[in-house]
Amino acid sequence: MMMELAFVLLLLRLVEYALGTPRPDSIKDSYDFIIIGGGTAGLTVANRLTENIRTSVLVIEAGDTDVGNLNLEVPFFCTRTVPFTSVDWNFTTVPQTNLNGRSLIYPRGFVLGGSSSVNFLAYTRGSEDDWDRFASVTDDPGWSWNQILPFFLKVRDCLTVQILLSELTSLNQSEKLTPPADGHDTTGEIIPSYHGFDGLVGDSLPGFPSPLDPMVIATTTEDPEFPFNIDINSGSPLGVGWAMATVSGGVRSSSATSYFRPFSNRPNLDLLLNMRVTRVLPGNSDSSTLQLQVVEIAQSRDGPRIQIKANKEIILSAGAVKTPQILLLSGIGPSEDLNAMGIPVVLDSPSVGQNLTDHPFVSQSWSVTGNNTFETAERDPVIAAQQFAEWNSTRTGPLTAITNQVGWLRVANLTSQYPDPASGPDSPHFELLFANGLVLTAVPPTGNFLTIAGADVSPTSHGTITLQSTDPFDAPLIDPNFLATDVDFFVMRQAMRSAQRFISNSAWSTYIIAPSFNGTTDDELDAFLRENIQSTFHPIGTAAMSAQDANYGVVNPDLTLRGATGLRIVDASVFPFIPAAHTQACVYALAERAADLVKATWNLP
Ligand SMILES: Cc1cc2nc3c(=O)[nH]c(=O)nc-3n(C[C@H](O)[C@H](O)[C@H](O)COP(=O)(O)OP(=O)(O)OC[C@H]3O[C@@H](n4cnc5c(N)ncnc54)[C@H](O)[C@@H]3O)c2cc1C
Ligand SMILES: *[C@@H]1O[C@H](CO)[C@@H](O)[C@H](O)[C@H]1NC(C)=O
Ligand SMILES: *[C@@H]1O[C@H](CO)[C@@H](O)[C@H](O)[C@H]1NC(C)=O
Ligand SMILES: *[C@@H]1O[C@H](CO)[C@@H](O)[C@H](O)[C@H]1NC(C)=O
Ligand SMILES: *[C@@H]1O[C@H](CO)[C@@H](O)[C@H](O)[C@H]1NC(C)=O
Ligand SMILES: *[C@@H]1O[C@H](CO)[C@@H](O)[C@H](O)[C@H]1NC(C)=O
Ligand SMILES: *[C@@H]1O[C@H](CO)[C@@H](O)[C@H](O)[C@H]1NC(C)=O
Ligand SMILES: *[C@@H]1O[C@H](CO)[C@@H](O)[C@H](O)[C@H]1NC(C)=O
Repeated sequence: MMMELAFVLLLLRLVEYALGTPRPDSIKDSYDFIIIGGGTAGLTVANRLTENIRTSVLVIEAGDTDVGNLNLEVPFFCTRTVPFTSVDWNFTTVPQTNLNGRSLIYPRGFVLGGSSSVNFLAYTRGSEDDWDRFASVTDDPGWSWNQILPFFLKVRDCLTVQILLSELTSLNQSEKLTPPADGHDTTGEIIPSYHGFDGLVGDSLPGFPSPLDPMVIATTTEDPEFPFNIDINSGSPLGVGWAMATVSGGVRSSSATSYFRPFSNRPNLDLLLNMRVTRVLPGNSDSSTLQLQVVEIAQSRDGPRIQIKANKEIILSAGAVKTPQILLLSGIGPSEDLNAMGIPVVLDSPSVGQNLTDHPFVSQSWSVTGNNTFETAERDPVIAAQQFAEWNSTRTGPLTAITNQVGWLRVANLTSQYPDPASGPDSPHFELLFANGLVLTAVPPTGNFLTIAGADVSPTSHGTITLQSTDPFDAPLIDPNFLATDVDFFVMRQAMRSAQRFISNSAWSTYIIAPSFNGTTDDELDAFLRENIQSTFHPIGTAAMSAQDANYGVVNPDLTLRGATGLRIVDASVFPFIPAAHTQACVYALAERAADLVKATWNLP
């Protein structure tokens, strides 16, 4: 039987070759672990599992290599990576009921490194309360802030393995705090003891001064609403502080550049690019429990389906949009939905695709007296060329930075009207991000601008990922269901008002000319929000972890699929609540712990 299977697989492979399918001839029929999605989490787990030379891993990534695309290297060019580019899945949401029926762009990285290759680089960890809430809802103290912090600054004993693989890079930590691109003294901008220095993902403080810096910092000393926070990544994010970004040596650091590329020659690590996983299947074991073991892949809608076997585990890391879609296509999800689509139910798992949560985000802008804003280079090709030449020759200059400060704030009087939507009293309700110009907006012919974006970082609205068809090459239906609750509108209004108060401080008096939006009443602000809210692209929750004895949830606290063996989910979809953070650093830490959990299960060094 196995011989026959092997033969069929071989034939399929030969047919593929004849059809010109590029695939490395080193791909085997089975691996210890098959990782679905070479994204942020997927490549982190792949790296850690292949530290052990005897563990074989295949990573299957739908997108192409990230190498050779300048937009993925130059930090400021993050404004060009998406939407609707060769490295984007090109998703849009269903019309949003509370946003005048608008359909929003919903980019996701379609490239090695996943969304870490295309994102806006902000490095934020969320609050102590966020992680402690993960621990309490999963009943697993391993997810608490105190126990997850070492995975942000990871320490482990893997030196023997390193020597085996003749690699000198330290593997001990996830974070590698590096000097900013301009090499400035960062004293007073960060608390170094909260950071890792020997990890793999490079991050840094802003590498180029912005004309906004003195005004933002002066506001933190002038206005008690905006206290200075010396390190927003310490677990206590409240206040305004220096932003960190996954930029190292002036270049983007992604899971592809950090966890994958320096290790790509490991003999036990195979990568299949430009290949889609269409579903996962049970093995042909006759045990009474459902054992998922087989990964089905295809290169095109009508292309041949090929099956590869995971001897130990399938790791599903396709991200919060595609992970639930793959589960549903595999017959794992709410049985009534599967029946309605004509998909045989393999496992009734009612929470799959539910509880999608994301941060709604809105920008306000002001015209300003300064002449050194993003618009300056955007309008003048000579200045733009100078900036690029500087980056190209020395990896320094304005293209190394995107936003220099960030604020995490609470609505002072919220809890007198609503239950607190934040994870705890030291967690923010909203975020303010400062940008030295218009962002993701067409540049008008004249004028210079300041943007302050506000995001509801503890939203209470939840949406869904569902199937629109049974074709794995179709997009799923994405409904973040933004602003479905009064408190979310309330928080967004207060975020807008807070931004308006921020620039009314004296530090800005000669800088601000006029607002682009003059509204002040609730109705005016609500109308603006309905017309202007976008996603911050932080979806989570669609395959959530829950306590072992909970009556909802998709995965156990150790991220194994509830009701089956052989499959673990490791990506942003497992967070049961959205952290008050840009999500990439949280995903790296989650994936680091997940790799430890996998190793513990299989007793791997
Ligand atoms: C435009 C944008 C800006 C963002 N800005 C920030 C920011 O500034 N800071 C921050 O912290 N976070 C940001 N985020 C969010 C952050 O990047 C994500 O939360 C995080 O990267 C998600 O990691 P993941 O592993 O869950 O998924 P991903 O990194 O998206 O990985 C999923 C991978 O699976 C692959 N895949 C999917 N389906 C299949 C299939 N069927 N077969 C094979 N492969 C498949 C995908 O191509 C992708 O490579 C941003 C995201 C986007 C899209
Ligand atoms: C998204 O659109 C771009 C531009 O048309 C294309 O190159 C890319 O392949 C598309 N992505 C997907 C997943 O189809
Ligand atoms: C890595 O961790 C080990 C074990 O804790 C420690 O002995 C070693 O010094 C660390 N290496 C680096 C480079 O930090
Ligand atoms: C959504 O999340 C909440 C909070 O964790 C939980 O109580 C609820 O059961 C979840 N819903 C589903 C369908 O999983
Ligand atoms: C900005 O203004 C300063 C001072 O007036 C001037 O020297 C400089 O050339 C201006 N820069 C641009 C890009 O217009
Ligand atoms: C960037 O630098 C490379 C060499 O490092 C050079 O080949 C290329 O022409 C440069 N590009 C520009 C636009 O200066
Ligand atoms: C809540 O705070 C906002 C802004 O600070 C203020 O406009 C509003 O009047 C306050 N509402 C209550 C009920 O205190
Ligand atoms: C805002 O109000 C000012 C002063 O009344 C006015 O000059 C400006 O045009 C208004 N801006 C907008 C965008 O309505």
